[in-house]
Amino acid sequence: MEKPMSVITTERHGDILVIISNNPPVNALGAEVRIGIDKGIKEAAADDSIKAVVIRCDGRTFFAGADITEFGKPPVEPWLPALVESIELSEKPVIAAVHGTALGGGCEVALGCHYRIAVPSAQFGTPEVKLGLLPGAGGTQRLPRVAGVELALELTGKGDPIPATKAKEAGLVDRLAGEDSLVADAIAFAGEVKDVRPIPRIRDKTATASPELFETFRKANAKRFRGFDAPEANIKCVEAATKLPFAEGLDFERQEFTKLMFGTQSAAMRHIFFAERKAAKIDGIAPDIALRPIRKVGMIGAGTMGGGISMNFLSAGIPVTIVEMKQDALDRGTGIIRKNYEATAAKGRMKPEQVEKAMGLLTPTLNLEDLADCDLIIEAVFENMDVKKEVFGKLDKIAKPGAILASNTSYLNIDEIAASTSRPQDVLGLHFFSPANVMKLLEVVRGAKTADDVLATAMDVAKKIRKVAVVAGVCDGFIGNRMLKPRQFEAMKLLMEGATPSQIDKVHVDFGMPMGPFQMSDLAGVDIGWHRDPTRIENIRDALAAIGRWGQKTGKGFYDYDEKRNPSPSAEVQKIIDDFAAKSGATKREISDEEIIERTLYTMVNEGALILEEEMAQRASDIDVVWIYGYGWPIYRGGPMFWADLEGADKIVKGLEKHGFEVAPLLKEKAAAKGRFN
Ligand code: 3HC
Ligand code: NAI
Repeated sequence: MEKPMSVITTERHGDILVIISNNPPVNALGAEVRIGIDKGIKEAAADDSIKAVVIRCDGRTFFAGADITEFGKPPVEPWLPALVESIELSEKPVIAAVHGTALGGGCEVALGCHYRIAVPSAQFGTPEVKLGLLPGAGGTQRLPRVAGVELALELTGKGDPIPATKAKEAGLVDRLAGEDSLVADAIAFAGEVKDVRPIPRIRDKTATASPELFETFRKANAKRFRGFDAPEANIKCVEAATKLPFAEGLDFERQEFTKLMFGTQSAAMRHIFFAERKAAKIDGIAPDIALRPIRKVGMIGAGTMGGGISMNFLSAGIPVTIVEMKQDALDRGTGIIRKNYEATAAKGRMKPEQVEKAMGLLTPTLNLEDLADCDLIIEAVFENMDVKKEVFGKLDKIAKPGAILASNTSYLNIDEIAASTSRPQDVLGLHFFSPANVMKLLEVVRGAKTADDVLATAMDVAKKIRKVAVVAGVCDGFIGNRMLKPRQFEAMKLLMEGATPSQIDKVHVDFGMPMGPFQMSDLAGVDIGWHRDPTRIENIRDALAAIGRWGQKTGKGFYDYDEKRNPSPSAEVQKIIDDFAAKSGATKREISDEEIIERTLYTMVNEGALILEEEMAQRASDIDVVWIYGYGWPIYRGGPMFWADLEGADKIVKGLEKHGFEVAPLLKEKAAAKGRFN
């Protein structure tokens, strides 16, 4: 986006000076903006004819925060904390006029102002914690003083914004403006308060809370905060606001902010912030390419995935026609969709009329021909090439010209599927993750013949249904599942060599994963793939499946589960492992946690390097996005390729070679050149 000539301009309205920022796209508080605001405040101070100041933004939003691209670079004065302070210390009232999202540093600028007026659709928040940080321009000290300690903990500790209406109730906003009359209302407000003395400054207020509030907040969010440094730092700073004088509180905040800013967690989380946005860009395709309109979606298969995938479109207001083979499967599938929506409504996260609206957009049918008017058709039938080819062959005759035909296959070759149609240019993979209505990742698989506008339309649709989309090439398992393979393979081998499921899982959970490989198998189903030939007992998984240890669904898998689904190690499983180990002639030994990391995580990095070499992913950061949003890789470790950079390619190569793995040439190259993936 073109930058305007000057990002900050001023306008006089009688005795009110309006400072206007125009720094697209989100009015981030970069150096030029800070310098300009500072100048505006000084201009007002020096001019006796000015009685009050309004700060507002042009474009889609009030300041959405500090400029994250400046982090890690030499600071340019005035720093944001100093700017906020100079606004607050102004001897003339300053009013923030807020629309869009006043986030992070933007919220802090508003807190430095003496009054805040906002349109009802505006949002206030301090999302720094999501970047591994805390509001470092006085936010942790001012928020509890103006909005109460409890809300300050919520806002800073969790990072989710609140609407202006709620901010008004909490005292964070003084007045709501008309949705279309913010500027005039703000100037009128300034006129009303220009002579009010003393000027209300948040720093002069006190914040009080019962000491147990902090412990209660920590405990209530222990699971969410596990492994992260920033939530605790935010809590400590808010606590400091209740104990220390304002200036000392600011010093404490600064120290904590600096620690986080130069730590690896924040670097990882900032990397993901940009990686997620970069993933949407497709190399070699113009961003303004004409897209195909997607007004109606067809879904084939109402099983586990078909139902969840449909919900994404229904929730976004896009009608879906869903096809099954038999009435009972269709009824079951649509029944589960309704049940899921109703469960969301029961939790208060959806209104009953929204449930009906979504369900009203769903047309169940047994007739594939009913998909003739759909713009996008997604297939989620059984994972079998012959079945998929048959479905696509039929679709080719039914779908209207220009319709996009997508497969949700987990592993199968999209080019082969596309070849069963006369229009391979319209075919691609849309690989959703289970549960498809919840998981944010979508791998968009680009076939050899997929047309550019088909790919670009898929990326755009992904955004509309609020997925994070990553382009993948055609290979076995695409990006995510392909990298899962060596990890699962090594985990099984490690069992035979003496590690236990709990030891391996613990290493992964301690690393920050939501669960380890065996917990994941138990959740997904140990029996996946086994039913095709139940007489086959070739490995530990088959042996478990054969005795009904199918995972959580049968109360036992690699672990035994109690009625609350708490796992405990199983002697029966250990015996099966020991028997297989004995048969294979493996000698059991003590396995170190380090070896588990090297064999299950370094091997993933190695596969990631191969994926990059083969150009199956556009960039290393796309691989990171896949693992963060598809598999719960801890965001504070930035994804496998970012983590590899932290570990050092050299160390990873040595670790892999120690165990006899063939190392990807790209990884070797990085090690030799001390290079990075990201
Ligand atoms: N700094 C620099 N660039 C930013 C930015 C920021 N704070 N926020 C957004 N951008 C960029 C994005 O990278 C993107 O760039 P691109 O077009 O080149 O990819 C562009 O602005 C548009 O962003 P989105 O695609 O995210 O636009 P949306 O409309 O979907 O969302 C938003 C807008 C809600 C403001 C979202 O961008 C957002 O959440 N931004 C980050 C807000 C944030 O974290 N603020 C706190 C910053 S840290 C801080 O303030 C520290 C202080 O306490 C000292
Ligand atoms: P599922 O077995 O739950 O559902 C498949 C449904 O398709 C069944 O209800 C079946 O009756 C229906 N079906 C089969 N042939 C049909 C046809 N010709 N016409 C209409 N309906 C037909 O399977 P699931 O788990 O939903 O998987 C579907 C696809 O999604 C597979 O390709 C799978 O690999 C993929 N996938 C699965 C994930 C998972 O975690 N389950 C994750 C990501 C992708």
